[in-house]
Amino acid sequence: MVVGKPFLTVEQIQKRVKELAEEISADYEGKDLLAVGILKGAFVFFSDLVRQIQTPLTVDFLIASSYVRSMTCGQVDLHYDIREEIADRDVLLVEDIVDTGITLNYLRERILLKNPGSLKICTFLNKTARREIAVPLDYVGFQIPDEFVVGYGLDYSNKYRNLPYISVFKKTT
Ligand code: IMP
Ligand code: MG
Repeated sequence: MVVGKPFLTVEQIQKRVKELAEEISADYEGKDLLAVGILKGAFVFFSDLVRQIQTPLTVDFLIASSYVRSMTCGQVDLHYDIREEIADRDVLLVEDIVDTGITLNYLRERILLKNPGSLKICTFLNKTARREIAVPLDYVGFQIPDEFVVGYGLDYSNKYRNLPYISVFKKTT
């Protein structure tokens, strides 16, 4: 198994995260922002992002894992749910990558049932090639092609999350 050179460098990532945070800070000025990180994958992006946001906010997390291995069957397991009150709050869901859209669609619909004041989604990466369910994305770090990537929180088999940059993952035999 090989991890190659950066596909997105530390500098590119930092610049984009700062831009996203500026946009979010402006949009949420005067609001009651509840930023929710989707673990494990979003932990690095989330911590960089919230530290650049200028408006007061509350953080919370949820832990989800998905098993999506056919076109029609996608199952999401929720291992830990948001503890903060959601009703009437301005919720920003922060994800590492949107691929088929199944995970975010499930989480989004679940949160909407709890009547947030607003719900927006911020994803670090958007991989549209394999999208099965359209999910509205309000803030996108980078669009990426149909490659499997690791680093900056993203894993292959729970490894490589600690790489400071994004790399395309190639499996060798
Ligand atoms: P979904 O297919 O949109 O439901 O994506 C679900 C999850 O698959 C993401 O939150 C990631 O954890 C994982 N995933 C999808 N593509 C990649 C990738 O290229 N690298 C690492 N994880 C990925
Ligand atoms: Mg994830």
